Amino acid sequence: MSFAATILTLYPEMFPGPLGISLAGRALNEGRWRCDPVQIRDYATDRHRSVDDTPAGGGAGMVLRADVVAAAIDAVAVRSGGEARPLLAMTPRGRPLTQQRVRALAQGPGVVILCGRFEGFDERLFEGRAIEEVSIGDYVLSGGEMGALVLLDACIRLLPGVMGAPSSGDEESFESGLLEYPHYTRPAEWEGRTIPEVLRSGDHARIAAWRKARAETDTRLRRPDLWERHEGARVGSPSGAQRMKDE
Ligand code: ADE
Repeated sequence: MSFAATILTLYPEMFPGPLGISLAGRALNEGRWRCDPVQIRDYATDRHRSVDDTPAGGGAGMVLRADVVAAAIDAVAVRSGGEARPLLAMTPRGRPLTQQRVRALAQGPGVVILCGRFEGFDERLFEGRAIEEVSIGDYVLSGGEMGALVLLDACIRLLPGVMGAPSSGDEESFESGLLEYPHYTRPAEWEGRTIPEVLRSGDHARIAAWRKARAETDTRLRRPDLWERHEGARVGSPSGAQRMKDE
């Protein structure tokens, strides 16, 4: 069964876009995932085909209408292969996307993704259709389409048969709650900089120990937020992080 992605957008021509090439593009051609963009404007009911209106209470910009977007949602089959797919909306007010959420989505039947433009959606839509709001980071994009492409890319590479070596995902950043260790390749010396000696030693135990240590140090220095969560989980209880701080 393939991963079914339905994207509701005012710019369906943005899909599959960059996901039509490389790893994701090959997987699309192989039928490992499906990409079905839907034009929200096709569900407008007035003769101007309007999808938005001015914000209640005043202010700048336009707001996507709940009735028009809901009609688009209701017209797409939320089920795929008999299973209900999560209904997501890309918005900067959503829950930040994590590798854990990506992994769960990739294991399911697919996703239905709503992409906003302008100031966003009428808030009543989220409750009215049980929509999960998702953000890809603390910055504002001009629309949800780029966010949807990011989310889909992260899911597609985890689908069975998509990544060359199945194990190449196991050690990468975030899978263990840590950043990944750094990589090097030939030439052994470049602009006077050398590859760490241990990586050329052939001693697999030493190499593994070095990689583990670098993953830990780099996470601690670069991402203290991730490090604290990792340490909390390692100590074995939700209060672990606090206990570490107290020590
Ligand atoms: N739409 C606009 N900004 C966004 C963000 N940061 N994440 C997801 N969708 C968005």
